[in-house]
Amino acid sequence: MTSARLHLDGKDYELPVVRGSEGETGIVIDQLRSSSGAITLDPGFTSTGACRSAITFIDGAKGILRYRGYPIEQLAEHSDFAEVAYLLLYGELPTQEQSAAFRADLTYHSMIHEDMKKFFEGFPPNAHPMAILSAMVASLSTYYPGTEEESNEINFVRLIAKVRTLAAYAYKKSIGQPTIYPRNDLSYCANFLHMMFAVPAEEYVINPVLVRALNMLLILHADHEQNCSTSTVRMVGSSRANIFASISSGICALWGPLHGGANQAVLEMLQMIADDGSGYQKWIDRAKDKDDSFRLMGFGHRVYKNYDPRATILRKMAADVLDELGVSDPLLDIARDLERVALEDEYFVERNLYPNVDFYSGILYRAMGIPTNMFTVMFAIGRLPGWLAHWKELREDDSSRIYRPRQIYTGYTERTYQPIESR
Ligand code: ACO
Repeated sequence: MTSARLHLDGKDYELPVVRGSEGETGIVIDQLRSSSGAITLDPGFTSTGACRSAITFIDGAKGILRYRGYPIEQLAEHSDFAEVAYLLLYGELPTQEQSAAFRADLTYHSMIHEDMKKFFEGFPPNAHPMAILSAMVASLSTYYPGTEEESNEINFVRLIAKVRTLAAYAYKKSIGQPTIYPRNDLSYCANFLHMMFAVPAEEYVINPVLVRALNMLLILHADHEQNCSTSTVRMVGSSRANIFASISSGICALWGPLHGGANQAVLEMLQMIADDGSGYQKWIDRAKDKDDSFRLMGFGHRVYKNYDPRATILRKMAADVLDELGVSDPLLDIARDLERVALEDEYFVERNLYPNVDFYSGILYRAMGIPTNMFTVMFAIGRLPGWLAHWKELREDDSSRIYRPRQIYTGYTERTYQPIESR
């Protein structure tokens, strides 16, 4: 089939069909409005493709996630975050030389301008670190205002390098400690842990278990095709806004509890269940009750309707890392019980609701000593290479146009203005 036929108001329209490299089918409707006057309506974009993309493939029914063709399971086991960032941005795994150069760039661009440290002083102590991060990332555009052509490549590296410094500074600010400068002898993830947890008075010893866990968490979050925040980055980028403004908007989109904010919401939910003490069945029942707004956070996904392959990896890793660190966390036990009960419950089975990546990531971050309000920031650090890769792909596509959806208007038809005294 190379075309689809639409029958509308007594007329037939021939719509071209495109096939993706994994066989997905798309009906091209970009001429539909000009030829028929009609538009398609798909709030939430469940059946709408916004672009062609060669970055990430997801098969939600089979639980498949691949970056540039490589299965997430292989990348999580054998790669590290810097290499995955390179893969997403440039399309291929780096050679040894490319890898060394990229890692050196990430190291040498990790400091932020000293003046930017003053910005942190202006935020109240309890400011949410996602607000600080999005403001800081937008502010980077004032320090690197160069023209796009000359600066995009270096700005990709600057952003990946600096985002962890900004995140760690936001944390240090929130707990009233002095900021810690990055060290050039440390890898990407080790450097982040150093800036988060070192204090000037004593030497901070990097724990390789934490470095490995952090690499894996960031890899699992690195891209997820046209999700809410990535679509936001593309949307903003489509207006030719600069890379810092575009990424800052992605951070804001990620913040919401239905998206990246879910990892914080999961931990808060598990804590609430623990504090409540009356067992998890009550919460399962509330999640099923249509008159109750409570949902099981960390359950369900727009795309994965079978299982989330990232959750499978993290479930195992959470247990291993807690064992290795010698941490026992009652919230992990509650999480497992909740998962077991929900997976047997007809409501969840019928709706194909499974734990998503965020169900276990919070447990891991907590074991690593990362506070709950930083969880979504961790997600943002991980997702950054994906956002950048999509922004780059959009800008390199000569056929891309400004994103401008249509609507079906449901308001008043024309009416006459009434002066205020006669209303
Ligand atoms: N708990 C209870 N019921 C749920 C849940 C949940 N977590 N998720 C979905 N449902 C129910 C809905 O009420 C709906 O039931 P109905 O058909 O009887 O009306 C049905 O399952 C379908 O759910 P939708 O909300 O239509 O699914 P959608 O694809 O729009 O939403 C989402 C997906 C936002 C992830 C949703 O499942 C949810 O809110 N989950 C909790 C938040 C969460 O974990 N978000 C993280 C997503 S992963 C990520 O961003 C990395």
